[in-house]
Amino acid sequence: MQVRVLNGPNLGRLGRREPEKYGSTGYDELVASCRALAAELGLDVDVRQTDAEHEMLAWVHEAADAGAAVVLNPAAWTHTSVALRDACAMLEAPLVEVHLTNVHARESFRAHSYISPIATASIVGCGVDGYALALRWLASR
Ligand code: DQA
Repeated sequence: MQVRVLNGPNLGRLGRREPEKYGSTGYDELVASCRALAAELGLDVDVRQTDAEHEMLAWVHEAADAGAAVVLNPAAWTHTSVALRDACAMLEAPLVEVHLTNVHARESFRAHSYISPIATASIVGCGVDGYALALRWLASR
């Protein structure tokens, strides 16, 4: 199974970015652990991060065309982007929305997600383990 792990803005700074909220695991470490787990689970994984919304939209279109499952941390676009939601709505394979933090327990603007209503599943508040949970769940389907 092809899986794209797509990360939105500022997630490339994981480890250095507000570590009290987002944890001390660096982005490169997250990528390495997703790749290692995917290999163990027999998933064909591609892990990417961008700060450019048009690039994220192109990656979601690519995943839709490939019939790939998507693990998406849309970061701030979660709360702002109708365009990203519309792109995600084209996915036919499962879409798992992941947030490191519990977005429901933070500022009120973070409680609304444009993505959740069209996601197959959402995982919030588990830190980087959320990505591992998403990959394990996809592999078990
Ligand atoms: C986040 C939560 C978002 O509200 C925030 O803008 C992020 C990260 C998370 O993983 O907890 O950039 O998606």
